[in-house]
Amino acid sequence: MNIIVTGGAGFIGSNFVFHMLKAHPDYRIICLDKLTYAGNLSTLEPVMDNPNFRFVKADICDKEAVDKLFEEEKPDVVVNFAAESHVDRSIENPQVFLETNIIGTSVLMDACRKHGIKRYHQVSTDEVYGDLPLDRPDLFFTEQTPIHTSSPYSSSKAGADLLVLAYHRTFGLPVTISRCSNNYGPYHFPEKLIPLMIIRALHDESLPVYGDGLNVRDWLYVEDHCKAIDLIIHKGKVGEVYNVGGHNEMANIDIVKLILKELGKSEDLITYVTDRAGHDRRYAIDPTKIHNDLGWLPETKFADGIVKTIKWYLDNEAWWQPIISGEYQNYYEKMYGDK
Ligand code: NAD
Ligand code: TYD
Repeated sequence: MNIIVTGGAGFIGSNFVFHMLKAHPDYRIICLDKLTYAGNLSTLEPVMDNPNFRFVKADICDKEAVDKLFEEEKPDVVVNFAAESHVDRSIENPQVFLETNIIGTSVLMDACRKHGIKRYHQVSTDEVYGDLPLDRPDLFFTEQTPIHTSSPYSSSKAGADLLVLAYHRTFGLPVTISRCSNNYGPYHFPEKLIPLMIIRALHDESLPVYGDGLNVRDWLYVEDHCKAIDLIIHKGKVGEVYNVGGHNEMANIDIVKLILKELGKSEDLITYVTDRAGHDRRYAIDPTKIHNDLGWLPETKFADGIVKTIKWYLDNEAWWQPIISGEYQNYYEKMYGDK
């Protein structure tokens, strides 16, 4: 089986590449990635020499490059992780989110139509459902929850989802979609909550908590997400959407306090800053469908996963140190300077 994995130099995509090469040693995995600020070739170093792996630097919006790769590799499956993924950046500059997340998805699916494919899988997010109130813990996102987005990021992901389902209905493209909750684990880019807080706490720098810190996210260890996608591309039903999440809701402030405790740092580092515009209050996935239909269950408990993740950042400074110097400094100053 030949699988094109787009965005495989990013956080979840790289974990998926590692998972697939290990779980299916007879598969060929081709990673297509533009290497934006969020893509890091050093992440893929451990598999660069694997004869079943190929890396290609290209933009998913580049029709010619995508077409050429499909011609060369004749993929059976395409798994699309490539995206602009950070909500705060989408508030600063929505356009690149529309280009990559929507146009890029259409370019990939057009190539799938042209060359024929067994499966196109779209990696989506629970953020397409909008948010839930904090005072209704009985409510969860199911696959039937209406799309109701809050940020340019989630709107671009929702636009892509609608396009994917339209390509299935109109052109008969064999698609599946997974909508997962917040991931955490190794190789998470340090602009996102968990790695940002770990690295800043290690440096005894202030920890910027948005608003009242009570916003809730439903955290899933990245390996569990990768296993869910592996199951969906093999056993999922064409045309279906699968929610992925592990009933692991945590308020942001509790995560930040947990990280401080694990690192033996003071809670005095916590600094409440201006809230994110349009900030979603609570995400919570109902994973009943993927459990009942495909037998998926998360394997890593948050208490274990967060300790493993903190340890990974402690052990892998060589990965994140080059990232947080240079351009990243300018980003931090621009985004947090006047908060
Ligand atoms: P990431 O930002 O860490 O990685 C994105 C990758 O895509 C990078 O390697 C980047 O270079 C690449 N990329 C960006 N634009 C590209 C383009 N035009 N052409 C080719 N490659 C391009 O993102 P992530 O957190 O790993 O998320 C991966 C996918 O999973 C995204 O589609 C995201 O919406 C979805 N998702 C993420 C989470 C989460 O918690 N991180 C949760 C649910 C769903
Ligand atoms: P993030 O990791 O950006 O993921 P998402 O917005 O896609 O859920 O943020 C997770 C939560 O943490 C979200 O409620 C915003 C909050 N947050 C902070 O409080 N401070 C920060 O510096 C960041 C990056 C996020």
